[in-house]
Amino acid sequence: MKLSLVIAESALELVPEEIRLSPAVVNDAKRRERDPSKILLDRSLHHAAMVRLKEDYKRGRPDIVFMTLLSVTGTPLYEEGSVKVYVHTRGDVVLEIAERTRLPKSYFRFRNLVEKHLSEGSSNELIRVRELNIRELLRKVIKPDFVAGLSTQGKSETLEDLAETLVGRTNPCVVIGGFPHGHFSAGTLAVLDELVRIHSRALDAHVVASRAVYEVEKRLMRADA
Ligand SMILES: C[S@@+](CC[C@H](N)C(=O)[O-])C[C@H]1O[C@@H](n2cnc3c(N)ncnc32)[C@H](O)[C@@H]1O
Repeated sequence: MKLSLVIAESALELVPEEIRLSPAVVNDAKRRERDPSKILLDRSLHHAAMVRLKEDYKRGRPDIVFMTLLSVTGTPLYEEGSVKVYVHTRGDVVLEIAERTRLPKSYFRFRNLVEKHLSEGSSNELIRVRELNIRELLRKVIKPDFVAGLSTQGKSETLEDLAETLVGRTNPCVVIGGFPHGHFSAGTLAVLDELVRIHSRALDAHVVASRAVYEVEKRLMRADA
C-alpha cells in the first residue's frame, strides 16, 4: 500500500496582479530585491493589501504548506517510501514532491524554492510542477482506489478507524486543506469518497496530516511484524 497525501486548495500562490502595486507588496519586494510578481503572497506581510482579494481569509499562508510538508516528510512511513505528497494550490498548480525528498528545514529557503518553481513553472528531480485541478490530479496522476477528505464538516470518525480503511486499500488518498479558514470548495468535495471529522474542533493542517500518517504507519508496521 502506498498512501497519497494531497494538501488541497493550499494558500500558496504568487502575489496576484490586482495587488502588486500596493505599498505592502512593493515594500516587501523592494526589501527582498525581487519583482512583486515573483514573491509569495503572505498575510503576515501583505495583510493590508489582501483585504481586496476574493476569499482573502483562505489565502496567503505558505507557512501552512511548509509545516505540513515538514511534519509528513519527517515520518518513518515517508522515509521508507510509503507516502507520496502532492501540494495542490488554490490556483490549480500541483507541486509533486518526489519520494523520500528531504525538503529545506528553513522556511526562507523553502520560500525561495517555491517562488522559483511557481514563477518559472519549472520542475526538477525533487519537485514536479504541473497545472492540474484536483479532479485531474486524482484521475490522471494518483488514480486512487479510495479518497478520504478531512474536514470539520465531515462525519465523525476516529483516525484509528479511518486508518484501518486506508490500509485495506492498495492506493488510498487523503485530502487535507492547506488553508487557514473556510472549507473545501464544491470541486474538491465532488472528488471525495468520504468526508471525515476527526476532532470536534478545527486543528492545524500539520497536526492532522502527521496524525493521519502516524495512524497508517502504526498499522503497516504492525502488519509487517
Ligand atoms: C486549519 S484547518 C481549516 C479550517 C476549516 N475551517 C475546517 O474546519 O476544517 C486545515 C485543514 O485541516 C483539516 N482539519 C482540521 N481540523 C480537522 C478536524 N477536526 N477534522 C478533520 N479534519 C480537520 C482539514 O483538512 C482542514 O481543511
